Amino acid sequence: MSLAAARSLLLKNSRVAHLRPGLALGSARLSSTSAKQPTLKERVAELIPGELENVKAIRAEHGKKAFGPVLVDQVYGGMRGLPALLWDGSVLDAEEGIRFRGYSIPECRDLLPKAPGGDEPLPEGLFWLLVTGEVPTAEQVAELSKDWAARSAIPEFVEDIIDRCPPTLHPMTQFSIAVNALNHNSAFAKAYKEGINKKDYWGPTFEDSMDLIAKLPSIAGRIYRNVYGGGNPPAVDSAADYSQNLATLLGFGDRKEFVELMRLYITIHSDHEGGNVSAHTGKLVGSALSDPFLAFGASLNGLAGPLHGLANQEVLVWLRKMESKIGADASTEQVKEYVWSTLKSGQVVPGYGHAVLRKTDPRYTAQREFALKHLPEDPMFKLVSKIYQIVPDVLLEAGKAKNPWPNVDAHSGALLTHYGLTQMEFYTVLFGVSRAFGVAAQLIWDRALGAPLERPKSYSSAAIKKMFEGKQ
Ligand SMILES: CC(C)(COP(=O)(O)OP(=O)(O)OC[C@H]1O[C@@H](n2cnc3c(N)ncnc32)[C@H](O)[C@@H]1OP(=O)(O)O)[C@@H](O)C(=O)NCCC(=O)NCCS
Repeated sequence: MSLAAARSLLLKNSRVAHLRPGLALGSARLSSTSAKQPTLKERVAELIPGELENVKAIRAEHGKKAFGPVLVDQVYGGMRGLPALLWDGSVLDAEEGIRFRGYSIPECRDLLPKAPGGDEPLPEGLFWLLVTGEVPTAEQVAELSKDWAARSAIPEFVEDIIDRCPPTLHPMTQFSIAVNALNHNSAFAKAYKEGINKKDYWGPTFEDSMDLIAKLPSIAGRIYRNVYGGGNPPAVDSAADYSQNLATLLGFGDRKEFVELMRLYITIHSDHEGGNVSAHTGKLVGSALSDPFLAFGASLNGLAGPLHGLANQEVLVWLRKMESKIGADASTEQVKEYVWSTLKSGQVVPGYGHAVLRKTDPRYTAQREFALKHLPEDPMFKLVSKIYQIVPDVLLEAGKAKNPWPNVDAHSGALLTHYGLTQMEFYTVLFGVSRAFGVAAQLIWDRALGAPLERPKSYSSAAIKKMFEGKQ
């Protein structure tokens, strides 16, 4: 896309894009040949005063206005639709899907810097976008790759902790244990102990967030190799990008297409606004000034639930069961019957439905496009495509699910399986690596903007009954 086209796209999206005064898409790109460009931390430091003013102005003008009534049903119903959280990195529209700082997934795939010879966006660029609202230059992205590679080593005691986990312990539990243990070296926890001024919280939060993201591939690679074999993880390559290093640590570094898949995978799984379980948990725990390692460790425990991130594992388990029951070449009628039998036995069809979305998830579509380009004849991809033709009608007929369409988890396992990453219990770990990007970006801003301790009000059923006694 030309710069002019990018600018017009920016203008088109300016209603939803989180743009900061004085900044325009491409301004960083335009200066890419000029003197040294700011690092991400320098850029955040530049942006903070303006954003503090922005929040102050919004609160002064709108602070006492209501979003609307809170229904008793929302209190009992998992707080669906309740406006309660500030989250800047992304916004989820029920019909259109996710936009990262105003950019849709196709726009991100188009605009964000790529690796030489690659087609998919580098997640480093997405992190920059999530944090600043700006599209970085290739040079800024390369600096981030280098910085993360330099921070990637995990302390020996964390390696020991991972090595002592029984291989039967679920990889997500191992992942969470290791991330929590990184808190040992938290810059934020140390600074807080030493009496850091509130105004400076964001600095060590930034450092911890960068360390967190940088160390996740080393943790994931170690867990994968301990549980499934492959020997000790190789050293991280300081000249390689994040996804290349992640793939190498897992043992798939020589498969170019898998590396491209990781770039796409991390980009699209990174953030899904603030109300989902992992994002909200990270923000909530961070609000107690628990450091980013503790906050994100808590996120991972939420992601490990089957209605959230574990659904990517559950999809493959469900598909495999289906294959063993009705065969790989089952007819449409047989598949339909299998879907009905799942529903009739009181289970959910994994990978379908969503608490917010009411259309096919664009993250599903992005993965489908990747499959159509790289593995159109793959049997598992064909099965996933066949299911896509059948499940929505069955869910509609069953009449319960508000959204009968596939979500991100309906597709990812088929792609990973194609490249030989067949161990489905590991899939949510990759989701976790990616989700750190969105949670960390918000943690930095929460501390920069002085977000307070979260403490919503709860009510007992008795109190709710009493509140409406004698009222219509
Ligand atoms: C994602 C999910 C948890 C959203 O839940 P939600 O917001 O409560 O969804 P709805 O309002 O549409 O749920 C209404 C009913 O339909 C059911 N339903 C929703 N999606 C369903 C699915 N894929 N299969 C079967 N039933 C489903 C719900 O369980 C609920 O049943 P209940 O009234 O007996 O409790 C839900 O769609 C689900 O369980 N999907 C499968 C798991 C999954 O893919 N998770 C990953 C999400 S990214």
